[in-house]
Amino acid sequence: MFAYILYTVVTGLAILPLLLYARNPYFLRDLNYAITAIQIAIRVGKFKRQKPFYSVLDSFLDKVAKQPDKRFILFEESSYTYSQADKESNKVARALSTHAQLKEGDTVALFLGNEPQFVWMWLALAKLGCIASLLNNNIRSKSLLHCFSCCEAKVLVIGAELRGAVEEVLPTLKQQDVRVFILSDDCDVEGIENLSDKIQQASDQPLSPQLRANIHIKSPALYIYTSGTTGLPKAAVINHERLWMASFLQWVAGVRSDDIIYIYLPLYHSAGFLMGLCGAIDKGITVVLRRKFSATHFWNDCRKYNVTVIQYIGEIMRYLCNSPKRDNDRDHKVRLAVGNGIRADTWAEFLQRFGDIRICECYGATEGNVGFVNYIGKIGAIGKEHFLHKMGYSYALIRYDTEKEEPVKDSRGFCIEVPRGETGLLVAKIGERTPFSGYAKNRQQTEKKKLRDVFVKGDLYFNSGDLLKIDNEGFIFFQDRIGDTFRWKGENVATTEVADLLLMVDCIEEANVYGVKVPGHEGRIGMAALKLKESMDFDSKATYRHVKNHLPSYARPRFVRIQDALAVTGTFKQTKVKLAEEGFNPAVVTNPLFYLEDNKGYVPMTQEIFSSIEEGRIRL
Ligand SMILES: *[C@@H]1O[C@H](CO)[C@@H](O)[C@H](O)[C@H]1NC(C)=O
Ligand SMILES: *[C@@H]1O[C@H](CO)[C@@H](O)[C@H](O)[C@H]1NC(C)=O
Repeated sequence: MFAYILYTVVTGLAILPLLLYARNPYFLRDLNYAITAIQIAIRVGKFKRQKPFYSVLDSFLDKVAKQPDKRFILFEESSYTYSQADKESNKVARALSTHAQLKEGDTVALFLGNEPQFVWMWLALAKLGCIASLLNNNIRSKSLLHCFSCCEAKVLVIGAELRGAVEEVLPTLKQQDVRVFILSDDCDVEGIENLSDKIQQASDQPLSPQLRANIHIKSPALYIYTSGTTGLPKAAVINHERLWMASFLQWVAGVRSDDIIYIYLPLYHSAGFLMGLCGAIDKGITVVLRRKFSATHFWNDCRKYNVTVIQYIGEIMRYLCNSPKRDNDRDHKVRLAVGNGIRADTWAEFLQRFGDIRICECYGATEGNVGFVNYIGKIGAIGKEHFLHKMGYSYALIRYDTEKEEPVKDSRGFCIEVPRGETGLLVAKIGERTPFSGYAKNRQQTEKKKLRDVFVKGDLYFNSGDLLKIDNEGFIFFQDRIGDTFRWKGENVATTEVADLLLMVDCIEEANVYGVKVPGHEGRIGMAALKLKESMDFDSKATYRHVKNHLPSYARPRFVRIQDALAVTGTFKQTKVKLAEEGFNPAVVTNPLFYLEDNKGYVPMTQEIFSSIEEGRIRL
């Protein structure tokens, strides 16, 4: 009898997960995710209470003590262990503290490419309790000065190859009393100080933790620039808590301590720096660092360095799928890909071609206070809702009017949550656990990302600017991005920044910049509707010269449309939605159209060019 009861109980228990599983095929993975999320919450709680606060730097120093000889950074033909990286950064910290007189809380702007020095530099600044401002190394002139001044840095450290870009703005920097250091030992430009020799001469002895004793979890750690909505790039304030949260993504994605991660995305963005580098430090793994993405070298690098984890953005996955097929396409050790923006068709093709790689698609903005992870691996989804999510933070998809470009309000003036399966604008409540730190020295843009009185009087939400859809199983799908930014080649393009630049061309009176969809491409490519000054013609040469000199290639308007008058809304906002829908098909658009041909300039758009683009014979 007893045996029988025991038997029933045991089988009953054994069947229970099966029953649950039948009702929810994702039960085990949901559970696993829940456990990880709870572990993370416990860990962050501990960091907060710990005095002094435990930072990513402390995590690095623990790895140095525990595994000094493990390889930390592999770069080209060089290899650096954790211990070597520690010593290198001690030297940098000493050189900077002596020659730039840095002290805790100071900000230093880094204008560097992806190279080991970038990592030493940041570790060094963290050791001194300083904040690093990570400048995008593609920006020039006005944008560069703007980005530099928004973080109130008094010191700028530049890579040797970026000397020309800095020389251009040096007079202005000097007026502002900025010290400029170059990672070189033979730069003879007046006003730029050699740093490499000073680093070489510095001692590699550890620095006292006293130097950073006042840093706490809410102190700013970094500035990362985003072109969130409008105007020039904005410096998102990344505090230590945020640094930690982004680093944990590798944990959620299932990165193990014996993994080797390949980082080729720029370190000045959050994907490369926070999720890639900081995540790797916390896991104590080896990082293969590359200056720049290259489709031809990608898999060779993975084979050469035994890479097991890669990061991606959607565009990269497509480049990889578009590269010529090879016999050894499946000959690699990559088992996990973490990133965001992969389209469903590319995802399927990628798996089919390159083998069984787990793809962990995530969603989140650098400055945002909400994020999702598709820990199931469901093709096409950017995340999955989890009951812990709803407990942890409060977010909603609200109805949005794309024509008027504003949320739809009900009769009482509040926003309306969309039902499941419908597209809505993602907003997330700003609160103690889900803060929005905003942008440095830019109150106006910070305010613009906030929505008030969303569901009740006095509430406050972060406006993600993204239109999403959630299905019945809780999978979240990206639909579109609204407003004044679009994404092209993985970079955000701020339409007003481009428009402001176009206005500097002599013949242009008004400019309306927007993104248009191109078949077979993620994101949108830039297009500008222009109104010319009276009795002037479109000066294609001058426009091309100007655009080429001042904008990175991904931000240059690829198509130009000349209009007699630019359409505006009732509140005089330029309308972009209709223009974007009309696109660049000369059969549809009756205005004069121009196309930016590589290395040539703006040429009149023809039906033939249009067909070539549509059929993929011209690559944009
Ligand atoms: C940097 O090094 C070069 C070559 O050694 C030298 O000519 C130059 O004066 C140095 N610059 C400064 C600011 O010390
Ligand atoms: C990659 O792995 C192979 C076999 O395990 C090993 O012989 C080789 O040295 C490794 N390469 C690197 C760069 O670590």
